Amino acid sequence: MKIVVTAGPTREYLDPVRFLSNPSTGKMGFQVAAAAARRGHDVLLIAGPVQLETPKGVKRINVVSAREMLDAALDSLVLFSDLSREQKTVFISTAAVADWRPAECASSKLKKHQMSGTLKLVRNPDILKTIAKTPHLRKLPSLRLVGFAAETDDVLSEAARKCREKGLSFIVANDVSEAGSGFGTDTNRVTFVFPDGETRPLPQMSKRRVAGAIIREVENL
Ligand code: PMT
Repeated sequence: MKIVVTAGPTREYLDPVRFLSNPSTGKMGFQVAAAAARRGHDVLLIAGPVQLETPKGVKRINVVSAREMLDAALDSLVLFSDLSREQKTVFISTAAVADWRPAECASSKLKKHQMSGTLKLVRNPDILKTIAKTPHLRKLPSLRLVGFAAETDDVLSEAARKCREKGLSFIVANDVSEAGSGFGTDTNRVTFVFPDGETRPLPQMSKRRVAGAIIREVENL
């Protein structure tokens, strides 16, 4: 299979030295890419700004913003699907993509007197939804989308809503308020949530083992 994984945060700059972002380290996504490569799949990792080495056997593209991540995802999926229409291609979106960005990015560092107390934001594109509605990709029977849901409240119902709205084969619900789970940790506790409402909880375990479970599930799609 061809597997495209996104990982890490995105950064949304308001000037050359200031940005909006989140605490994602990329550990979960890099483990997913590594697990897929160990299983012999052809893996492309699209990474936001993180301090991690590229897993063995994985190709990597570095991006900074959500819009760059979207462009890299669309380019690689169109290329993969053109190369092999029969072979399954799976897009696994572990990245913590910023939903908003500053309306403007100044070309030089803003002085304090140039900044007001209000920052105007605009919505970033939703990468999964954009892939699902891109005509060239939407018609491909061999493309599958898998998401993550980082939640602090109503974890399973929110994950189920995102799974339906984003047209996913399944979503990995991640309670990021629990100790040893979510951002920056080496362990995670997740539940697989399927479009028909089925849920499959996994115990807390290393991100490496969570990644292995995700790839085994992806192989059954
Ligand atoms: O990197 P680590 O430190 O190891 O942390 C791992 C993690 C907590 C980041 C990871 O396990 C996780 O939960 N990733 C999803 C984070 C997230 O952005 O969740 P969300 O519920 O906001 O988004 C739902 C899905 O839509 C995700 O698959 C996300 O990649 C995708 N999305 C979100 C926003 C956007 N503009 N486009 C998207 O495609």
